[in-house]
Amino acid sequence: MFPLRINGLRFAPPGRVVLDGLNLELGGEGISLILGPNGVGKTLLLRLIAGLLSPSAGQLDWAGKAQPDGRLAMVFQQPMMLRLSVFANVEFALRPQGFSAAERAARTNEVLARVGLAQRAADCARLLSGGERQRLALARAWAMRPRLLLLDEPTASLDPSATEQVERIIREVRTDGAKVLMTTHNLGQATRLADDIIFLAEGRVQEHAPAQRFFARPQSPAARAFLQGELPWRITFDR
Ligand SMILES: Nc1ncnc2c1ncn2[C@@H]1O[C@H](COP(=O)(O)OP(=O)(O)OP(=O)(O)O)[C@@H](O)[C@H]1O
Ligand SMILES: [Mg+2]
Repeated sequence: MFPLRINGLRFAPPGRVVLDGLNLELGGEGISLILGPNGVGKTLLLRLIAGLLSPSAGQLDWAGKAQPDGRLAMVFQQPMMLRLSVFANVEFALRPQGFSAAERAARTNEVLARVGLAQRAADCARLLSGGERQRLALARAWAMRPRLLLLDEPTASLDPSATEQVERIIREVRTDGAKVLMTTHNLGQATRLADDIIFLAEGRVQEHAPAQRFFARPQSPAARAFLQGELPWRITFDR
């Protein structure tokens, strides 16, 4: 399914244009992080890639095909939980995937252990804290062993320790061989996790660069202004 080539993607609800001919090429390795101001279309881009919405124009080309031929999972910013146990929330998600009951149970136990929720398997998922919910949502997606994992601000509103736990899980997902494409407003997280940065402004990808280079030498004025505005201290960039 990789490389994913996005050509001229446009999303224009009545009276406005959000994505205006966006181009992007994504390889199948590593963690790619989408940065950009509020409302620029980061969540929208993830939803378009997940096939949850149709663009007004433009195409997604999955290694020459119109549809991905590998599994894809998305974790939303506020993941929905069924009013069932932690275990059932993962196991139910695996049912449409064609696994046997024994395999579903084995995978569920494995991912719950990996995200540190094995002891909570029998508890009602709705009673979990924000950080625990986020880990459960990641476990649910991970259990499907997606080739591409889309994460929308997976640590928004988590404390530093919960953020660290979620970041560790995301790294493990990458090590397992999944491609991760995610958004964040946490620039510290971006420097810790990202292999490459995709910077969106004015409906397009303004920069797509290795993370180290992006943070040391952002090329576009929009990216420089964004980084200055998001950081609590002033920085000067290398030339
Ligand atoms: N299905 C939709 N129909 C119409 N407009 C939409 C739809 N989805 C998103 N939009 C609009 O597209 C714009 C971009 O929204 P999006 O949620 O992608 O922003 P974002 O970059 O994720 O912002 P934030 O950083 O605040 O999460 C918003 O103005 C939003 O109202
Ligand atoms: Mg968003």
